[in-house]
Amino acid sequence: MQELKLLEKNKDIKNLKVFLRVDFNVPMQNQAVSDSTKITKVKTIVEDLLNRGAVVILCSHLGRPQVKGKEGFSLEPVRSEAEKIIGREIVFVAEDFKNIISQKISENKNLFLLENIRFDPNEEKNGHDLSKKLADLCDIYINEAFSCSHRKHASIFGITQFVDSYAGETIHQELTALNSIVTDTQKPVACLIGGSKISTKIDLITSLMPKIDYMIIGGAMANNFFKHQGFQVGKSKIEENIDSIVKNIITTASKSNCKLILPIDVVTAKRFEDQGANKNLDQVENDEMILDIGTKTIASISNILQESKTVFWNGPFGFFEKDSFANGTKAISNTVADLTKQGKLVSIAGGGDTFAAIKKSKRENEFTYISTAGGAFLEWLEGKVLPGLKVLEIKN
Ligand code: 3PG
Repeated sequence: MQELKLLEKNKDIKNLKVFLRVDFNVPMQNQAVSDSTKITKVKTIVEDLLNRGAVVILCSHLGRPQVKGKEGFSLEPVRSEAEKIIGREIVFVAEDFKNIISQKISENKNLFLLENIRFDPNEEKNGHDLSKKLADLCDIYINEAFSCSHRKHASIFGITQFVDSYAGETIHQELTALNSIVTDTQKPVACLIGGSKISTKIDLITSLMPKIDYMIIGGAMANNFFKHQGFQVGKSKIEENIDSIVKNIITTASKSNCKLILPIDVVTAKRFEDQGANKNLDQVENDEMILDIGTKTIASISNILQESKTVFWNGPFGFFEKDSFANGTKAISNTVADLTKQGKLVSIAGGGDTFAAIKKSKRENEFTYISTAGGAFLEWLEGKVLPGLKVLEIKN
C-alpha cells in the first residue's frame, strides 16, 4: 500500500496555521446544500485540530465555475451548513486571503473557509504563484480530499512544493479500507458500471475486465450497446461515434474471459413525467426513451450477485432521481445490501451519483465500503497514480 506522510497525533500544532484541503463540492439545490455527507466526514478532523490549538483554513472548490464569481458557485452557502455541522463559527474569506486571515486571527477567530478556489483560473492550471500564495497562508498543509486527489491543481499538488505537507486521516481511512478489500479479493467478482457516459469509463471497464468475472453494464451507457446490437433506441441518451469503444469492450471481455452482461429488457417512457412501461429490447418505439432496466434484467443481475463474493459498483442503472425509473437501481442496492448484511458479499461502491442512489434506498450503512469520491475512486481502481497522493508519499 502507498505509504503517505501523516501528521503525528502528538505533534504540537498550537497556534500553527493548518491549511486543510477538503472536498466541499457538495450537491446544491436553490442555493442550499442538499447532501452534507462530505462536510460531516471532516467534522472530527476539524474539531481535533482546533482542540489542539491550531488555526484551521478550509479550502475547497465547488463545481466547475470556469469564471470568477459565477453565480451559484460561491462557497458562502456551504459555510453556513458547515457551521451548523461543525458547531463552530467559520469566517468566510472571499478575497485578500492573507490580510483578512491575519486580521481575524488577531480578533481570536480560528476557523476560516476560503471562497471557491476554482474562481482563480490558476487553481486548475496548478499555477506556481497561486500555489506559493496558498502555502504562504499556513505552516502545515493537510489534504483531506481523496476525491480531489486525481487533480493536479494548485491546492492539491502545487502547494505541497512550498510547505510541510501531509495526508489527512480521512484519506488514510479511505485507502486502508479500499486496499484491504482489493488486495485479497474473493472471487467471483462482479462489477456494476452504470451512468451515462461510456467514453469516460472505457479505461476503467477495460482495465478491470481481466481481473473480474462479470462486467454488468447498465444505465444510459447500455443504450450504445443496444444500438450496436441493431436495436431501436428511440429518443434515448446515446453518445456519438462510440462504436469503436463498444467493439473494444466486447473484444476485451471475450479475450479476458469476463462475462459481459447487458440488460435484456428496459423501462421506457415518452416523457419523464410518465410512469414507464417494461419492454423487451425489440419493442422500444421511435418516440420513447429508455430510462431504467427491466424486471428480467433485475432478476438476472440478482442471480449473478447471489453467486458473487465481491462486487464493485459505480453509476446508477436508471434515471433514479425520478421514482418511476428508480426501480432497477433500488433493486440492485437492496440485493447488494442484503447479501452484504448476510456476510455473503463484500461490496464497494463509489461516486457521487451512486452514493446518492444508495442513500435514496436507505441502505448506505449496509455496504462494506462506499466512497463519496467519483473520478478519483475510478482512477484509483484502474491502478492510476493520483498526483495529489503521489506528492504526499513517504520517500525512502
Ligand atoms: C468530486 O466530487 O468527485 C470531486 O469534488 C472532484 O470534482 P471534479 O471532478 O470537479 O474535479
